[in-house]
Amino acid sequence: MYDNRPFLAAVLGNPISHSKSPRMHNYWLKKNRINGYYMPIKVKLGDFEKTIKSLISMGFSGVNVTIPHKLSALEIADESSETAQSIGAANTLIFSKEKKIYADNTDAYGFIRNIKSKFPNWDPKKGASVVLGAGGASRAVIAALLSEGSRKIIVLNRTIEKAEELKIEFNNKISVESWSHLDEIVASSSNIINTTSLGMNNETFVPIDPKSIPKEALVSDLVYTPLKTKLLKLGQDRGSKTVDGLGMLMYQGIPGFEAWFGQTPLVTEELRKILMK
Ligand code: ATR
Repeated sequence: MYDNRPFLAAVLGNPISHSKSPRMHNYWLKKNRINGYYMPIKVKLGDFEKTIKSLISMGFSGVNVTIPHKLSALEIADESSETAQSIGAANTLIFSKEKKIYADNTDAYGFIRNIKSKFPNWDPKKGASVVLGAGGASRAVIAALLSEGSRKIIVLNRTIEKAEELKIEFNNKISVESWSHLDEIVASSSNIINTTSLGMNNETFVPIDPKSIPKEALVSDLVYTPLKTKLLKLGQDRGSKTVDGLGMLMYQGIPGFEAWFGQTPLVTEELRKILMK
């Protein structure tokens, strides 16, 4: 019998109305002429597992998960990628025909692919990387840098204890410095990555001395509202390479789309414009 039911996928979170993922995946579905739909679903923390079970029984191909479900997503999975395990959280779930759940975390992939799409010769093995922040996004960036062979990763966080916890989780492969040493650490780094929420909506921003940013460094900000954060502006003014957070958002969507819908979507300027609206 010919089965022409649409492919279904979703993003689960709370809140969820701000998510750009539905716009992105539905754009890709249309571009690739796939009969499918990707929807936002608001799910309370305690309802996560039963919602996943319902979606599986309704024939969904998989979901993205965002705050506050990234930890639960990894916990309920039957199988998970090494990256998801090292980050300790999942953002992409793939449901098999046998109704099994595979968990992945594509943030690390998105982070690397985004930088390499703009700077193909970028080599994180060279020089030190300073990562600002010690939350979920920081874990993904650290996992990404380690998988690319980075040898020197320095994490700075307002609450130093959280950075120390990360050091243990990543088997002492990172070092931790005090937030008050920001300028001197930045001055001797090749990669400067902001994973904190500082800079969002232009309210507050990373308290950095512009002169400490090396001209040959790459400055990356995971914040994408605004697109050009004050940190990126400082980097640009210094003549450094800069990468914005919207690119990472777009690239992290690729592996999920491929797994659910069977085609590889493209990150384009048109998509970027649609997401910026
Ligand atoms: P995410 O999953 O996006 O990384 P998170 O886990 O809530 O979010 O982490 C937020 C990060 O932003 C943390 O590193 C946090 O620092 P603390 O651990 O000290 O809270 C950082 N952050 C948020 N507001 C900040 C501020 N005003 N100054 C410095 N760091 C801040």
